[in-house]
Amino acid sequence: MNILVTGGAGYIGSHICVSLLRKGYSVIVADNLHNSEIKTIHKIEEITNHEVSFYEVDVCDSAALESVFVNNQIDGVIHCAGYKAVGESIEQPVAYYKNNVGSTLTLIEKCIKYNVNQFVFSSSATVYGNNVSPVDETMELLPTTNPYGETKAMSERILKDTAHANPNLSVTLLRYFNPVGAHESGLIGENPKGIPNNLMPYITRVAKGEFEQLQIFGDDYPTKDGTGVRDYIHVMDLAEGHVAALYNKAEGVSIYNLGTGEGTSVLELVNKFSEVNNVDVNYQVVERRDGDLASVYANASKAAKDLNWEAKRSLADMCRDVWTYEQRK
Ligand code: WQD
Repeated sequence: MNILVTGGAGYIGSHICVSLLRKGYSVIVADNLHNSEIKTIHKIEEITNHEVSFYEVDVCDSAALESVFVNNQIDGVIHCAGYKAVGESIEQPVAYYKNNVGSTLTLIEKCIKYNVNQFVFSSSATVYGNNVSPVDETMELLPTTNPYGETKAMSERILKDTAHANPNLSVTLLRYFNPVGAHESGLIGENPKGIPNNLMPYITRVAKGEFEQLQIFGDDYPTKDGTGVRDYIHVMDLAEGHVAALYNKAEGVSIYNLGTGEGTSVLELVNKFSEVNNVDVNYQVVERRDGDLASVYANASKAAKDLNWEAKRSLADMCRDVWTYEQRK
């Protein structure tokens, strides 16, 4: 089976490629390297001892994407390519709608034209808006606080409507919670350009001494210790969830949370990181960040039942593996 992974040179996409290759799939990657590097493709090949067919392509570029479909027998698609910085999406909404929604439209159009009937979409727990956690797949989606979240909700709607109009099409929407960590080899991991928006890459840069101090955005939330609670999931567990999803060839639309079902606070993660890696993380509590919710974590039971998949790596594994990567890169 040949799987096209868009954004396959990126943080989550590269880990998905490793899991696919390990399971015997052939992998084709289309990535414009906007927020990733070609060396990651070589690292995937080093880890798995398998070749990756790489195309430096913008998924929004219909003609360029067409050539990927013309030159390969594609059996399924995992669509990860997209911009994903919440704050940036508020400043640059047009770029986010054009890229994230545009790429989904261009890609699903090719799938229909070339009769590729399995489409797995990288969605996000953000689409739940301020639904009360644990959030589950039956919940109505609520407005998110940012254009990034809206692009994910819109892409979900596009794919639902397309599946309805094309009975042979199998669409699986995977709603990610908070992916962190890295492949245990330390060869691939998250390497955001500039100042990280997310918690874990910021923790690692403070631990490395690149940044002076972590700012904890608020400790007055109604949570166990007042800091924000999230469902952190090891990126390799997330990747394996995609392989499990490919076995789901049910026609129509299937929706799954990819989370652990556990809520972890900012302070708990900081303390676990320090304990596991025996390194200090200097922090200061400051004002809440606009748009942040107090607590977001998954009801993860549907994926366990239907996909026979659940996250198995611990918070300690996440902290250890991300540190191994940071030390090697
Ligand atoms: C986690 C917690 C912050 C940074 C976002 C997107 C989501 C997904 C993951 C793409 C919160 C706190 C953070 C910092 C802090 N991205 N924090 N200091 O906001 O849950 O989710 O990233 O799919 O779609 O919405 O992740 O890592 O930014 O924040 O205190 O410097 O850490 O307040 O409680 P978030 P995050």
